[in-house]
Amino acid sequence: MSSLRIDFPVDFVFGAAAASFQIEGAKSEDGKGLSIWDTFCDQPEAISDKSTGETACDHYHRYPEDIKLLKELGIDSYRLSVSWPRIIPGGDGEVNKKGLAFYSKLIDALLAAGISPIITLYHWDLPQKLEDEGGWVNRQTAYAFAKFAEICFKTFSDRITSWITLNEPFCSAYLGYGIGIHAPGISNMQSMFNAVHHLNLAHGLALGAFRKGKYSGKIGTTLNLGLPKPASDAPEDILAADRAADNQSRMYLHPLLGKGYPKRYLEAYPEVQLPIKDGDMKCIAGKLDFLGINYYSESTAAFNQEHPEQYRIVETDYPKTAMGWDITPDGLFRLLEWTHSECGNLPLIITENGSAWNETLLITKNGEKSVNDPNRIAYLQNHLDICKKAVQAGIPLKGYFAWSFIDNFEWAHGYTKRFGLIYCDFENLERTPKSSYYYYQKFLLS
Ligand code: FCB
Repeated sequence: MSSLRIDFPVDFVFGAAAASFQIEGAKSEDGKGLSIWDTFCDQPEAISDKSTGETACDHYHRYPEDIKLLKELGIDSYRLSVSWPRIIPGGDGEVNKKGLAFYSKLIDALLAAGISPIITLYHWDLPQKLEDEGGWVNRQTAYAFAKFAEICFKTFSDRITSWITLNEPFCSAYLGYGIGIHAPGISNMQSMFNAVHHLNLAHGLALGAFRKGKYSGKIGTTLNLGLPKPASDAPEDILAADRAADNQSRMYLHPLLGKGYPKRYLEAYPEVQLPIKDGDMKCIAGKLDFLGINYYSESTAAFNQEHPEQYRIVETDYPKTAMGWDITPDGLFRLLEWTHSECGNLPLIITENGSAWNETLLITKNGEKSVNDPNRIAYLQNHLDICKKAVQAGIPLKGYFAWSFIDNFEWAHGYTKRFGLIYCDFENLERTPKSSYYYYQKFLLS
Protein backbone atom coordinates (compact mmCIF):
# COMPACT_ATOMS: atom_id res chain seq x y z
CA MET A 1 0.00 0.00 0.00
CA SER A 2 1.60 3.23 -1.04
CA SER A 3 2.03 6.01 1.48
CA LEU A 4 -0.14 9.07 1.94
CA ARG A 5 0.48 12.39 3.57
CA ILE A 6 -1.40 11.32 6.67
CA ASP A 7 1.24 8.63 7.25
CA PHE A 8 3.79 11.37 7.96
CA PRO A 9 4.19 13.55 11.06
CA VAL A 10 2.02 16.69 10.86
CA ASP A 11 5.04 18.98 10.73
CA PHE A 12 6.70 17.11 7.85
CA VAL A 13 7.05 19.66 5.03
CA PHE A 14 6.04 18.76 1.49
CA GLY A 15 7.04 21.00 -1.35
CA ALA A 16 8.34 21.42 -4.86
CA ALA A 17 11.49 23.11 -6.11
CA ALA A 18 12.92 25.07 -9.03
CA ALA A 19 15.88 27.37 -9.67
CA SER A 20 16.16 30.89 -11.04
CA PHE A 21 18.15 30.27 -14.22
CA GLN A 22 16.12 27.21 -15.14
CA ILE A 23 12.72 28.92 -15.12
CA GLU A 24 12.87 32.71 -15.00
CA GLY A 25 14.04 33.87 -18.43
CA ALA A 26 14.12 37.71 -18.57
CA LYS A 27 17.83 37.45 -19.25
CA SER A 28 18.60 41.17 -19.34
CA GLU A 29 15.41 42.66 -18.02
CA ASP A 30 15.11 45.27 -15.26
CA GLY A 31 18.83 45.67 -14.88
CA LYS A 32 19.83 42.02 -14.53
CA GLY A 33 23.51 41.30 -15.18
CA LEU A 34 24.70 38.24 -17.10
CA SER A 35 25.51 35.00 -15.34
CA ILE A 36 28.05 32.33 -16.27
CA TRP A 37 25.17 30.27 -17.66
CA ASP A 38 24.15 33.08 -20.04
CA THR A 39 27.71 33.09 -21.34
CA PHE A 40 28.06 29.30 -21.38
CA CYS A 41 24.90 28.91 -23.48
CA ASP A 42 26.55 30.98 -26.20
CA GLN A 43 29.39 28.48 -26.58
CA PRO A 44 28.68 26.42 -29.72
CA GLU A 45 28.80 22.88 -28.26
CA ALA A 46 27.83 23.58 -24.64
CA ILE A 47 24.07 22.89 -24.69
CA SER A 48 22.80 19.79 -26.47
CA ASP A 49 19.85 21.50 -28.20
CA LYS A 50 21.71 24.82 -28.55
CA SER A 51 19.09 26.54 -26.44
CA THR A 52 19.57 29.26 -23.82
CA GLY A 53 17.89 30.50 -20.65
CA GLU A 54 16.80 33.70 -22.35
CA THR A 55 13.10 32.93 -21.97
CA ALA A 56 13.06 29.54 -20.20
CA CYS A 57 9.54 29.16 -18.68
CA ASP A 58 9.15 32.95 -18.55
CA HIS A 59 8.45 32.56 -14.85
CA TYR A 60 9.65 36.15 -14.38
CA HIS A 61 6.42 37.31 -16.02
CA ARG A 62 4.19 34.30 -15.47
CA TYR A 63 4.83 33.75 -11.76
CA PRO A 64 1.22 34.58 -10.76
CA GLU A 65 -0.03 31.71 -12.92
CA ASP A 66 2.67 29.42 -11.54
CA ILE A 67 1.81 30.28 -7.95
CA LYS A 68 -1.84 29.54 -8.66
CA LEU A 69 -0.82 26.08 -9.88
CA LEU A 70 1.42 25.57 -6.85
CA LYS A 71 -1.41 26.53 -4.55
CA GLU A 72 -3.79 24.09 -6.22
CA LEU A 73 -1.14 21.41 -5.91
CA GLY A 74 -1.45 21.73 -2.15
CA ILE A 75 2.22 22.03 -1.18
CA ASP A 76 3.34 23.62 2.11
CA SER A 77 6.54 25.09 0.78
CA TYR A 78 8.23 26.12 -2.45
CA ARG A 79 12.01 26.08 -2.81
CA LEU A 80 13.13 28.87 -5.13
CA SER A 81 16.55 30.32 -5.82
CA VAL A 82 17.46 33.97 -6.19
CA SER A 83 19.57 35.06 -9.13
CA TRP A 84 22.68 36.78 -7.83
CA PRO A 85 23.23 38.83 -11.05
CA ARG A 86 19.60 39.97 -10.94
CA ILE A 87 20.20 41.41 -7.47
CA ILE A 88 23.85 42.50 -7.86
CA PRO A 89 24.51 42.73 -11.62
CA GLY A 90 28.26 43.09 -11.17
CA GLY A 91 28.44 40.38 -8.49
CA ASP A 92 29.90 42.75 -5.91
CA GLY A 93 28.90 46.36 -5.27
CA GLU A 94 25.79 48.07 -6.53
CA VAL A 95 22.43 46.51 -5.73
CA ASN A 96 19.70 46.43 -8.38
CA LYS A 97 16.51 47.49 -6.57
CA LYS A 98 14.35 46.03 -9.35
CA GLY A 99 15.93 42.64 -8.79
CA LEU A 100 15.10 42.74 -5.09
CA ALA A 101 11.60 43.99 -5.94
CA PHE A 102 10.95 40.97 -8.15
CA TYR A 103 11.74 38.48 -5.39
CA SER A 104 9.87 40.56 -2.86
CA LYS A 105 6.72 40.37 -5.02
CA LEU A 106 7.26 36.66 -5.57
CA ILE A 107 7.62 35.97 -1.85
CA ASP A 108 4.53 38.02 -1.01
CA ALA A 109 2.48 36.23 -3.64
CA LEU A 110 3.59 32.84 -2.33
CA LEU A 111 2.75 33.77 1.24
CA ALA A 112 -0.64 35.07 0.14
CA ALA A 113 -1.23 31.66 -1.46
CA GLY A 114 -0.43 29.96 1.85
CA ILE A 115 2.93 28.64 0.61
CA SER A 116 6.05 29.17 2.66
CA PRO A 117 9.04 29.96 0.41
CA ILE A 118 12.53 28.57 1.07
CA ILE A 119 15.37 30.47 -0.58
CA THR A 120 18.47 28.95 -2.09
CA LEU A 121 21.02 31.72 -2.38
CA TYR A 122 23.18 30.09 -5.03
CA HIS A 123 21.87 27.67 -7.62
CA TRP A 124 24.76 28.03 -10.09
CA ASP A 125 24.09 31.41 -11.76
CA LEU A 126 27.32 33.17 -10.78
CA PRO A 127 27.57 36.77 -12.05
CA GLN A 128 29.76 36.73 -15.17
CA LYS A 129 31.65 39.76 -13.86
CA LEU A 130 32.95 37.62 -11.00
CA GLU A 131 33.89 34.82 -13.36
CA ASP A 132 35.93 37.36 -15.34
CA GLU A 133 38.01 37.72 -12.17
CA GLY A 134 38.41 33.97 -11.72
CA GLY A 135 34.98 32.93 -10.43
CA TRP A 136 35.11 30.26 -7.72
CA VAL A 137 38.82 29.79 -8.34
CA ASN A 138 39.27 33.23 -6.76
CA ARG A 139 38.83 33.53 -2.99
CA GLN A 140 37.22 36.98 -3.39
CA THR A 141 34.10 35.30 -4.83
CA ALA A 142 33.43 33.74 -1.43
CA TYR A 143 33.52 37.18 0.23
CA ALA A 144 31.29 38.65 -2.50
CA PHE A 145 28.82 35.81 -1.92
CA ALA A 146 28.67 36.55 1.80
CA LYS A 147 27.85 40.19 1.03
CA PHE A 148 25.14 39.13 -1.43
CA ALA A 149 23.74 36.70 1.15
CA GLU A 150 23.59 39.46 3.75
CA ILE A 151 21.61 41.70 1.41
CA CYS A 152 19.12 38.87 0.96
CA PHE A 153 18.93 38.20 4.72
CA LYS A 154 18.33 41.90 5.39
CA THR A 155 15.67 42.25 2.72
CA PHE A 156 13.74 39.01 3.03
CA SER A 157 14.26 37.52 6.47
CA ASP A 158 11.07 39.13 7.77
CA ARG A 159 9.27 36.67 5.46
CA ILE A 160 11.66 33.76 4.93
CA THR A 161 12.05 31.14 7.61
CA SER A 162 14.49 28.75 5.89
CA TRP A 163 17.61 29.51 3.89
CA ILE A 164 19.88 27.28 1.84
CA THR A 165 23.30 28.75 1.11
CA LEU A 166 24.44 26.64 -1.86
CA ASN A 167 22.89 24.07 -4.14
CA GLU A 168 25.16 21.11 -4.87
CA PRO A 169 28.61 22.71 -4.62
CA PHE A 170 29.97 19.41 -5.99
CA CYS A 171 28.33 20.19 -9.35
CA SER A 172 29.61 23.77 -9.38
CA ALA A 173 33.17 22.64 -8.66
CA TYR A 174 33.41 19.29 -10.47
CA LEU A 175 31.15 19.82 -13.48
CA GLY A 176 31.99 23.53 -13.82
CA TYR A 177 35.74 23.66 -13.12
CA GLY A 178 36.83 19.99 -13.06
CA ILE A 179 35.40 18.47 -16.23
CA GLY A 180 33.89 21.58 -17.81
CA ILE A 181 30.49 20.25 -18.87
CA HIS A 182 28.73 23.00 -16.88
CA ALA A 183 29.41 26.73 -16.78
CA PRO A 184 32.02 28.16 -16.81
CA GLY A 185 33.31 25.17 -18.80
CA ILE A 186 36.77 24.87 -17.24
CA SER A 187 38.60 21.59 -17.00
CA ASN A 188 41.52 21.86 -14.63
CA MET A 189 42.22 19.98 -11.41
CA GLN A 190 43.78 22.91 -9.53
CA SER A 191 40.87 25.17 -10.54
CA MET A 192 38.48 22.55 -9.23
CA PHE A 193 40.32 22.27 -5.91
CA ASN A 194 40.17 26.03 -5.50
CA ALA A 195 36.47 26.02 -6.38
CA VAL A 196 35.70 23.27 -3.84
CA HIS A 197 37.31 25.17 -1.02
CA HIS A 198 35.99 28.59 -1.97
CA LEU A 199 32.44 27.25 -2.29
CA ASN A 200 32.72 25.65 1.13
CA LEU A 201 34.15 28.89 2.47
CA ALA A 202 31.35 30.92 0.83
CA HIS A 203 28.84 28.75 2.67
CA GLY A 204 30.67 29.26 5.96
CA LEU A 205 30.95 33.03 5.54
CA ALA A 206 27.25 33.38 4.67
CA LEU A 207 26.27 31.20 7.60
CA GLY A 208 28.48 33.30 9.87
CA ALA A 209 26.84 36.50 8.62
CA PHE A 210 23.41 34.98 9.29
CA ARG A 211 24.35 34.08 12.87
CA LYS A 212 26.03 37.43 13.48
CA GLY A 213 22.97 39.32 12.20
CA LYS A 214 20.73 37.26 14.52
CA TYR A 215 18.17 36.80 11.80
CA SER A 216 15.26 34.66 12.74
CA GLY A 217 14.77 31.48 10.76
CA LYS A 218 16.89 28.47 9.93
CA ILE A 219 19.85 28.04 7.67
CA GLY A 220 21.39 25.02 6.00
CA THR A 221 22.89 23.94 2.72
CA THR A 222 22.08 21.42 0.00
CA LEU A 223 24.44 18.65 -1.10
CA ASN A 224 23.88 16.01 -3.76
CA LEU A 225 25.41 13.31 -1.63
CA GLY A 226 26.28 10.11 -3.42
CA LEU A 227 27.06 6.79 -1.82
CA PRO A 228 27.70 4.32 -4.63
CA LYS A 229 26.88 0.69 -4.13
CA PRO A 230 29.69 -1.88 -4.54
CA ALA A 231 29.43 -3.89 -7.78
CA SER A 232 30.12 -7.11 -5.85
CA ASP A 233 30.98 -8.44 -2.39
CA ALA A 234 34.67 -8.47 -3.24
CA PRO A 235 36.62 -6.38 -0.71
CA GLU A 236 38.24 -4.32 -3.49
CA ASP A 237 34.80 -3.37 -4.88
CA ILE A 238 33.56 -2.48 -1.40
CA LEU A 239 36.57 -0.25 -0.88
CA ALA A 240 36.16 1.24 -4.39
CA ALA A 241 32.53 2.14 -3.68
CA ASP A 242 33.51 3.75 -0.41
CA ARG A 243 36.24 5.75 -2.11
CA ALA A 244 33.75 6.85 -4.78
CA ALA A 245 31.90 8.77 -2.05
CA ASP A 246 34.94 10.95 -1.29
CA ASN A 247 34.76 13.34 -4.25
CA GLN A 248 31.00 13.81 -4.28
CA SER A 249 30.13 13.53 -0.60
CA ARG A 250 32.96 13.73 1.92
CA MET A 251 34.73 16.70 0.28
CA TYR A 252 31.64 18.77 1.14
CA LEU A 253 29.98 17.06 4.08
CA HIS A 254 33.04 16.48 6.23
CA PRO A 255 34.26 20.10 6.34
CA LEU A 256 30.72 21.16 7.29
CA LEU A 257 30.81 18.72 10.19
CA GLY A 258 34.23 19.88 11.37
CA LYS A 259 35.89 16.67 10.15
CA GLY A 260 38.12 18.38 7.56
CA TYR A 261 38.73 17.14 4.03
CA PRO A 262 39.12 13.39 3.41
CA LYS A 263 42.86 12.69 3.41
CA ARG A 264 42.52 9.67 1.15
CA TYR A 265 41.02 11.82 -1.61
CA LEU A 266 43.66 14.55 -1.30
CA GLU A 267 46.40 11.93 -1.42
CA ALA A 268 45.05 10.67 -4.73
CA TYR A 269 45.91 14.06 -6.28
CA PRO A 270 49.28 15.07 -4.80
CA GLU A 271 49.95 17.52 -7.64
CA VAL A 272 47.17 19.90 -6.53
CA GLN A 273 46.46 21.72 -3.28
CA LEU A 274 43.46 23.14 -1.49
CA PRO A 275 43.92 26.90 -0.87
CA ILE A 276 43.12 26.70 2.87
CA LYS A 277 43.94 29.71 5.06
CA ASP A 278 43.94 30.02 8.85
CA GLY A 279 40.46 30.01 10.28
CA ASP A 280 38.76 28.67 7.13
CA MET A 281 37.92 25.23 8.46
CA LYS A 282 36.37 26.67 11.61
CA CYS A 283 34.32 29.09 9.52
CA ILE A 284 33.07 26.29 7.23
CA ALA A 285 32.05 24.16 10.21
CA GLY A 286 29.56 26.69 11.64
CA LYS A 287 26.47 25.10 13.17
CA LEU A 288 23.85 24.06 10.61
CA ASP A 289 20.13 23.98 11.37
CA PHE A 290 19.44 21.33 8.73
CA LEU A 291 21.05 19.59 5.79
CA GLY A 292 19.38 19.49 2.38
CA ILE A 293 19.95 16.39 0.26
CA ASN A 294 19.24 16.14 -3.46
CA TYR A 295 18.71 12.55 -4.49
CA TYR A 296 18.00 11.15 -7.94
CA SER A 297 19.84 7.87 -8.27
CA GLU A 298 22.38 5.56 -6.70
CA SER A 299 25.31 4.51 -8.86
CA THR A 300 27.37 1.34 -8.66
CA ALA A 301 31.14 1.29 -8.39
CA ALA A 302 33.88 -1.28 -8.93
CA PHE A 303 37.64 -1.41 -8.39
CA ASN A 304 39.72 0.22 -11.09
CA GLN A 305 43.48 0.35 -10.79
CA GLU A 306 43.80 2.92 -13.58
CA HIS A 307 41.92 5.71 -11.77
CA PRO A 308 43.69 7.88 -9.16
CA GLU A 309 40.86 7.08 -6.73
CA GLN A 310 40.81 3.42 -7.85
CA TYR A 311 37.18 3.11 -8.81
CA ARG A 312 34.93 3.24 -11.83
CA ILE A 313 31.17 3.64 -12.14
CA VAL A 314 29.69 0.57 -13.82
CA GLU A 315 26.64 0.02 -15.99
CA THR A 316 23.82 -1.91 -14.34
CA ASP A 317 20.60 -3.46 -15.54
CA TYR A 318 18.37 -1.35 -13.30
CA PRO A 319 15.53 0.42 -15.11
CA LYS A 320 16.52 3.93 -16.12
CA THR A 321 14.94 7.36 -16.50
CA ALA A 322 15.30 9.48 -19.64
CA MET A 323 18.52 10.85 -18.12
CA GLY A 324 19.89 7.30 -18.20
CA TRP A 325 19.98 7.33 -14.39
CA ASP A 326 19.27 4.08 -12.52
CA ILE A 327 15.97 4.03 -10.64
CA THR A 328 17.02 3.03 -7.14
CA PRO A 329 14.62 4.12 -4.38
CA ASP A 330 16.35 1.79 -1.90
CA GLY A 331 19.51 3.79 -2.47
CA LEU A 332 17.72 6.76 -0.92
CA PHE A 333 17.18 4.79 2.25
CA ARG A 334 20.83 3.76 2.38
CA LEU A 335 21.92 7.33 1.80
CA LEU A 336 19.64 8.68 4.52
CA GLU A 337 20.89 6.08 7.00
CA TRP A 338 24.49 6.91 6.15
CA THR A 339 23.93 10.67 6.36
CA HIS A 340 22.15 10.27 9.68
CA SER A 341 25.07 8.23 11.01
CA GLU A 342 27.47 10.98 9.87
CA CYS A 343 25.40 13.93 11.09
CA GLY A 344 23.77 12.65 14.27
CA ASN A 345 20.51 14.36 14.98
CA LEU A 346 20.85 17.11 12.38
CA PRO A 347 17.46 17.45 10.65
CA LEU A 348 17.57 16.27 7.03
CA ILE A 349 15.40 17.52 4.18
CA ILE A 350 15.16 16.08 0.69
CA THR A 351 15.44 19.33 -1.23
CA GLU A 352 15.19 17.66 -4.68
CA ASN A 353 13.97 14.33 -5.98
CA GLY A 354 12.42 13.60 -9.35
CA SER A 355 12.77 12.01 -12.76
CA ALA A 356 12.86 12.94 -16.44
CA TRP A 357 10.76 11.11 -19.03
CA ASN A 358 10.07 11.50 -22.73
CA GLU A 359 6.43 12.40 -22.67
CA THR A 360 4.08 14.09 -25.08
CA LEU A 361 1.29 16.56 -24.79
CA LEU A 362 -2.02 14.96 -25.71
CA ILE A 363 -4.68 17.15 -27.29
CA THR A 364 -8.21 15.85 -27.67
CA LYS A 365 -10.53 16.82 -30.54
CA ASN A 366 -12.18 19.46 -28.38
CA GLY A 367 -8.79 20.96 -27.51
CA GLU A 368 -8.32 19.57 -23.99
CA LYS A 369 -4.70 19.02 -23.09
CA SER A 370 -3.16 16.41 -20.84
CA VAL A 371 0.09 14.53 -20.22
CA ASN A 372 0.15 10.96 -19.05
CA ASP A 373 3.34 10.19 -17.06
CA PRO A 374 2.88 6.93 -15.16
CA ASN A 375 6.64 6.47 -14.83
CA ARG A 376 6.99 9.72 -12.91
CA ILE A 377 4.10 8.73 -10.65
CA ALA A 378 5.74 5.39 -9.89
CA TYR A 379 9.08 7.10 -9.20
CA LEU A 380 7.47 9.65 -6.90
CA GLN A 381 5.42 7.05 -5.09
CA ASN A 382 8.42 4.76 -4.52
CA HIS A 383 10.56 7.56 -3.17
CA LEU A 384 7.79 8.87 -0.91
CA ASP A 385 7.43 5.34 0.46
CA ILE A 386 11.14 5.38 1.30
CA CYS A 387 10.71 8.73 3.08
CA LYS A 388 7.98 7.22 5.20
CA LYS A 389 10.19 4.21 5.97
CA ALA A 390 13.03 6.56 6.96
CA VAL A 391 10.82 8.55 9.33
CA GLN A 392 9.56 5.30 10.87
CA ALA A 393 13.16 4.13 11.29
CA GLY A 394 13.88 7.21 13.40
CA ILE A 395 15.91 9.14 10.81
CA PRO A 396 15.30 12.87 11.41
CA LEU A 397 13.89 13.46 7.92
CA LYS A 398 11.74 16.58 8.04
CA GLY A 399 10.74 17.39 4.47
CA TYR A 400 10.49 16.38 0.83
CA PHE A 401 10.62 18.63 -2.24
CA ALA A 402 9.77 17.30 -5.68
CA TRP A 403 11.96 18.41 -8.58
CA SER A 404 10.53 20.17 -10.36
CA PHE A 405 7.15 21.80 -10.34
CA ILE A 406 7.54 22.57 -14.05
CA ASP A 407 9.64 21.37 -17.03
CA ASN A 408 12.58 23.70 -17.40
CA PHE A 409 16.07 24.36 -18.75
CA GLU A 410 17.99 21.26 -17.75
CA TRP A 411 21.48 22.77 -17.91
CA ALA A 412 23.69 21.15 -20.60
CA HIS A 413 20.64 19.20 -21.84
CA GLY A 414 18.72 22.37 -22.61
CA TYR A 415 14.99 21.69 -22.92
CA THR A 416 15.37 18.05 -23.94
CA LYS A 417 14.87 16.60 -20.45
CA ARG A 418 11.53 17.15 -18.75
CA PHE A 419 11.44 16.83 -14.94
CA GLY A 420 8.22 18.77 -14.29
CA LEU A 421 4.95 17.87 -12.61
CA ILE A 422 3.62 20.50 -15.01
CA TYR A 423 4.32 20.31 -18.73
CA CYS A 424 5.71 23.48 -20.27
CA ASP A 425 5.20 23.92 -23.99
CA PHE A 426 8.36 25.83 -24.89
CA GLU A 427 6.77 27.11 -28.14
CA ASN A 428 3.94 29.03 -26.51
CA LEU A 429 4.84 28.65 -22.79
CA GLU A 430 1.48 27.12 -21.98
CA ARG A 431 1.38 25.10 -18.77
CA THR A 432 -0.42 21.74 -18.55
CA PRO A 433 -0.43 19.78 -15.29
CA LYS A 434 0.65 16.18 -15.89
CA SER A 435 -0.99 13.17 -14.27
CA SER A 436 1.89 13.17 -11.72
CA TYR A 437 0.75 16.64 -10.62
CA TYR A 438 -2.68 15.20 -9.85
CA TYR A 439 -1.10 12.20 -8.14
CA TYR A 440 0.97 14.45 -5.82
CA GLN A 441 -2.08 16.66 -5.25
CA LYS A 442 -4.11 13.67 -4.16
CA PHE A 443 -1.29 12.47 -1.94
CA LEU A 444 -1.05 15.90 -0.32
CA LEU A 445 -4.74 16.31 0.20
CA SER A 446 -5.15 12.89 1.81
C1 FCB B 1 20.18 18.75 -9.89
C2 FCB B 1 20.09 20.26 -9.96
C3 FCB B 1 18.78 20.75 -10.49
C4 FCB B 1 18.24 19.89 -11.61
C5 FCB B 1 18.29 18.44 -11.26
C6 FCB B 1 17.73 17.51 -12.31
O1 FCB B 1 21.52 18.36 -9.89
O2 FCB B 1 20.27 20.80 -8.68
O3 FCB B 1 18.93 22.09 -10.85
O4 FCB B 1 18.89 20.19 -12.78
O5 FCB B 1 19.60 18.07 -10.95
